[in-house]
Amino acid sequence: MPRSKIAGIGKYIPERTVTNQDLTQYMETSDEWIQERTGIKERHYAHRTDETTTTMGVEAAKIAIERAGTTAEEIDFIVFATLSPDYYFPGCGVMLQRALKMKEIGALDVRNQCSGFLYALSVADQFIKTGMYKNILVVGSEKHSFGLDFSTRGRNISVIFGDGAGAVVLQPTDEKDQGILSTHLHSDGESAEILAMYNPGTHANHWGTKDYADFDDAPIAQMFMSHAMIDNAQNFPYMDGQAVFKKAVVKFPEVIMEALQANGYQASDIHMLIPHQANLRISQFVQHKLKLSDEQVYNNIQHYGNTTAASVPIALCEAWEKGLISRGDLVCLAAFGSGFTWASALLKW
Ligand code: ACO
Repeated sequence: MPRSKIAGIGKYIPERTVTNQDLTQYMETSDEWIQERTGIKERHYAHRTDETTTTMGVEAAKIAIERAGTTAEEIDFIVFATLSPDYYFPGCGVMLQRALKMKEIGALDVRNQCSGFLYALSVADQFIKTGMYKNILVVGSEKHSFGLDFSTRGRNISVIFGDGAGAVVLQPTDEKDQGILSTHLHSDGESAEILAMYNPGTHANHWGTKDYADFDDAPIAQMFMSHAMIDNAQNFPYMDGQAVFKKAVVKFPEVIMEALQANGYQASDIHMLIPHQANLRISQFVQHKLKLSDEQVYNNIQHYGNTTAASVPIALCEAWEKGLISRGDLVCLAAFGSGFTWASALLKW
């Protein structure tokens, strides 16, 4: 059975840089608070109207496809991970298929938030291993800036997130010292609501019960979005940051060790760990716990913020572009996020 390898990788970062200082125009916050708690100095925001999650994914995909030495016409499957799609439906996969004038191939959308790219990679990996597809495009893209609460009320979340996209092309390889060795996927829905965006959704009488009371006799469709939801800022994400932090620092090391042990490696064997860029403090905690050196862990949240499904491919692409990853290097990708879901992938570059 062939393994899959990352044959090409690309990223797209929107031009507009927004510093911590810039955010103080909209909310009570400070560069000091943000850097101390998250490590973030700046993030990028997509153009308000001209750029979407799909258009950024398309730009990253073009680079990945070219670097893989192939063409959009040769791609035979798309997996697109995002939590900030252009439309509620259809998903971004078909939008990308249209934009790149691809054949009438399958397009799958993955909704696993911060773990989205790793879930997407794992799905693509299975299709390559079984021989079903030979050229799979895997994309992670987010336009968070469209849906954050930029008032002081939303500051614990809005300062963390940024926009951007990353993409890879997976192809089969018979090389013994190359390719994805294994992927590991997990979930625990017990705390699904502590890092979530509830609306628009089909739930009722769950969160903000009072506001739904008026709708008891209304057609179900009216529960989808109401003025009350907007007035009460229930159309923005919610996060219990401390609870997320506590779970993340347990699950990140656990899923990294699971990948290493499955392949007979230990932490010291890792050439480069690319963690989902959730928060610099979380990455530092994981690094310390696994006794990894600064050279073994790649962080770029300082400049991009947390780009959710895009963070792992952006960081992997940047590390590779800087020459920090070479053929045969042992690379570990790991993510944790809303759901909760968490995942890892171990690969030889
Ligand atoms: N600027 C200034 N003050 C702020 C800000 C801000 N942006 N946000 C919150 N505060 C204030 C709060 O209002 C509160 O004030 P009070 O003490 O007067 O009530 C105080 O700072 C402390 O608030 P907490 O929410 O308790 O802040 P905490 O120390 O927990 O830090 C943070 C918040 C950074 C989110 C932290 O909990 C954390 O790192 N959590 C991990 C979650 C995470 O990284 N999520 C990323 C997305 S999920 C993922 O990718 C896995």
